[in-house]
Amino acid sequence: MKLTVVGGGSTYTPELVDGFARLRDTLPVEELVLMDPAQGRLDLVGGLARRILARQDHPGRVTTTSDLDEAVDGADAVLLQLRVGGQAAREQDETWPLECGCVGQETTGAGGLAKALRTVPVVLDIADRVRRTNPGAWIIDFTNPVGIVTRALLQAGHKAVGLCNVAIGLQRTFAALLNVTPPDVHLDHVGLNHLTWETAVRLGGPEGEDVLPKLLGEHGDTIAADLRLPRPLLDTLGVVPSYYLRYYYAHDEVVRELRTKPSRAAEVAAMESTLLAMYADPALDEKPELLARRGGAFYSEAAVDLAAALLGGGGSPYQVVNTYNRGTLPFLPDDAVIEVQAAVGSKGASPLPVHPVDPLFAGLMANVTAYEDLALQAALHGGRDRVFRALLSHPLVGQYAYAETLTDRLIAHNREHLAWA
Ligand code: G6P
Ligand code: MN
Repeated sequence: MKLTVVGGGSTYTPELVDGFARLRDTLPVEELVLMDPAQGRLDLVGGLARRILARQDHPGRVTTTSDLDEAVDGADAVLLQLRVGGQAAREQDETWPLECGCVGQETTGAGGLAKALRTVPVVLDIADRVRRTNPGAWIIDFTNPVGIVTRALLQAGHKAVGLCNVAIGLQRTFAALLNVTPPDVHLDHVGLNHLTWETAVRLGGPEGEDVLPKLLGEHGDTIAADLRLPRPLLDTLGVVPSYYLRYYYAHDEVVRELRTKPSRAAEVAAMESTLLAMYADPALDEKPELLARRGGAFYSEAAVDLAAALLGGGGSPYQVVNTYNRGTLPFLPDDAVIEVQAAVGSKGASPLPVHPVDPLFAGLMANVTAYEDLALQAALHGGRDRVFRALLSHPLVGQYAYAETLTDRLIAHNREHLAWA
């Protein structure tokens, strides 16, 4: 089996390689291709990747290249994990919205729109080239904003599934609190990428007993503290929101906090320099602890599980993925991309039925779905007016004056990445 990682020079890649090494029975990788335009990073990350596999006597080989066609030729699956403009562009996304009193974040709100506009054309171009060279390959998209990027890929007819580690992270947290193993925990996970709620926590599978009330009763304080949300909010909702809902439920508090501390991009950039220096050490042959301080912890497990299921070799039968709605959530259009539990196999992902959704959550999902649609229009076709419409539709922007100002700032800060600007 051959897997290609586009953006393979990312400092995150050792997390992925560690997963391939540990979970080799689930996913027998024979060749791992790391593709990245940044040759220097590729050499460092590639070297460590080889040492991680060697340390665990993994028979697979690691190759590195900056040539996309060569990288995807013969690959069974292609993982996309790229960041157009790097941490410098992220830093902008996290900064200028704050000047209007709006959250500055890489995937939520105006910053997330900027990221979508920079990213969608690049990802579509890569996917077209994958299809030309290797039409059978599955595309697994980690590239944010995953909901919008996956919708772009599916609309263009690509064989793609979007993936995020939020659900797998909560599954692990709950398993630890319940004193069971993660595969014993099945989440009723519903929403859009980075806008999800766990509406039930079942033991054993989709028909298992729902222990969410018990979990909230016994560990509500811990869960609330992890999410940095007030405990009474969780009690009122009766479900567990993902930590990205804090940007909605505590928007102004988050803005005040963000204004007083360095951006996450700056923190991550500092961590990345340290990590790259560590990767250069030929004695290092495992994933460094420091990587656990990145948000993507455990994304390798999600990736291995999904690739194994798509490539017909096993993996969990039900996984949380991003795919077309197609009637699963009746209040959203069929071609919306949702993040839910799905049956996953060699034909792709097919969402499991979802229990009726409380209007408290459905309303926000519908609003953000409309925003994602308008955001995709702006990313595909460009133009100030389309950017403005997407911003005006976003529940964290909404006002005319803010949308006007944010439109101008978004374009000014991203001109070099926007072909139409
Ligand atoms: C979580 C999200 C990812 C996001 C990451 C950011 O894992 O699910 O989509 O990329 O956080 O983490 P970072 O360490 O870059 O802030
Ligand atoms: Mn994510």
